[in-house]
Amino acid sequence: MPHRNREGHRKRSLAVFPGSFDPITNGHLDIIGRSLSVFDQVTIAILVNPEKHPLFTVEERVAIIREAFPGEQRVQVDTFSGLLVDYAERVGASVIVRGLRAISDFEFEFQMALMNRRLNPRIETVFMMPAESYSYLSSRLVKEVFQLGGRVSELVPAVVERRLREKYGTGAAVRPPARPPSSKSERGIHSGASAPNSRSERGIHSGASAPNSKSERGIHSGASAPNSKSERGIHSRASVRARRT
Ligand code: PNS
Repeated sequence: MPHRNREGHRKRSLAVFPGSFDPITNGHLDIIGRSLSVFDQVTIAILVNPEKHPLFTVEERVAIIREAFPGEQRVQVDTFSGLLVDYAERVGASVIVRGLRAISDFEFEFQMALMNRRLNPRIETVFMMPAESYSYLSSRLVKEVFQLGGRVSELVPAVVERRLREKYGTGAAVRPPARPPSSKSERGIHSGASAPNSRSERGIHSGASAPNSKSERGIHSGASAPNSKSERGIHSRASVRARRT
């Protein structure tokens, strides 16, 4: 039943979509679009974390996201520090939206959702799955690919690509996109090789075979993701947290 205020008017539903957004990607945009089909308003809440060393300052990230949603009244951009549930309560949101790209995201998200519920049982966490084509997409990989000259134009809004160019200089992202394979052999059909869209080729690993080191995960940048399991607060086999953002 919809919540109503004292005058009997339906209360507008507000969801908070929290994250680092360094930078926002089309995967995030996908989740925001889906959230807008369920909630009246979505506040994109950027965590201010002095311990992290982001590529874009908080102010830059706010400006980028605002530019990515021109004239969209139902989307707000805000920043927060401290506990997420406290922020959500303060702004009158009863829902936290998080994206789940793959099973590898699940364990950390599950921990976080349950901790948030323990901290404030009035706030629910809702998980949404982005389009499959974004299941491998992360802010971290976007930065790395761009920096190394790969194209990211289909992966981020135009404003992000422009800002990346400003940050890294115009030398990046000049490598042409790969042409799609045309022959059977190029597609690996004759050889019995695994399908090109298999999990491992997309960089998604099940809990059973999750890679442990950064290099195994194909992550080579000097970004400041927590390295050890204990740093990430994860004490089981899962070791995929660094791919999260
Ligand atoms: O985009 P990210 O980095 O995956 O987002 C993580 C975020 C910002 C949602 C998470 O780190 C967070 O909520 N931080 C706020 C501090 C907090 O509330 N911690 C307890 C949650 S279990």
